[in-house]
Amino acid sequence: MNTATDNPGHGDTLRLLQVTDPHLSANIGRAMRGVDTYRSLQDVLDQTADLGWLPDAILATGDLVHDGTRQGYEHFRKLLGRFAARNNARVFTLPGNHDDPETMRETLSNDPFQYCGHADLAAWRMIFLDTWLAVDAGGLLRDSELERLDDLLNEAGDKHVLVCLHHHPVDMGSRWLDSVGLRNADRFLEIIDRHANVRSVVWGHVHQEYDNIRNGVRYMSSPSTCAQFKPHNDDFALDELPPGFRWLELAADGSISTGVEWMKVPAAKATVR
Ligand SMILES: [Fe+2]
Repeated sequence: MNTATDNPGHGDTLRLLQVTDPHLSANIGRAMRGVDTYRSLQDVLDQTADLGWLPDAILATGDLVHDGTRQGYEHFRKLLGRFAARNNARVFTLPGNHDDPETMRETLSNDPFQYCGHADLAAWRMIFLDTWLAVDAGGLLRDSELERLDDLLNEAGDKHVLVCLHHHPVDMGSRWLDSVGLRNADRFLEIIDRHANVRSVVWGHVHQEYDNIRNGVRYMSSPSTCAQFKPHNDDFALDELPPGFRWLELAADGSISTGVEWMKVPAAKATVR
């Protein structure tokens, strides 16, 4: 686990892109629900240029690789490594239920990549949590991870804090999805509620947009860079929305500007089944 500190970023405002759930695999062109996930991630990264600003960091909030293969992580490293070099940006990663944490850590621990840990950039502290559970699509924060969160929030003092994880800690209003959320969300929320410096919590996993305020903290998810899930559905269903990503501007006073951008073209069709 490595930790970045005191990177000044591109000025007072921290600019981030949440690029999540790309579900890459060893085989480029492979289908994930009919989408060529490699090309789809590439298309999303290309479209971020339309924002007209350079990101300081990318938040890759899990399910980076669908089949947990080393080749899948190499593909991610190649695409994001090139993108990060062009932007002089860092890439923060954490595992989702489809990831293989050990292979991911081995592949994504060197600059510009970071696996879990935390980072202090400008007036902000970002904390990256591991919710991975073997043989379970749901997630769990182990005691050691909950203690680390509590300690980092205590130490953060006057810094504003953004907490990132893969599994949703609040209900999404969707029966099937809420059965595979963060299993000990009550313990997580109890810690967040105790610390006045937390400004926002962001996650992946749900393949849809979410943005809500709870006890003064902004809770948000981003669409996936491949296929989306239909919101508020009791049973699993795909949405027709295209791939997307979230952008965030974190100001020195703790305020947040954010939005979701959707691809202007449909998701790249898979060529390999
Ligand atoms: Fe996912």
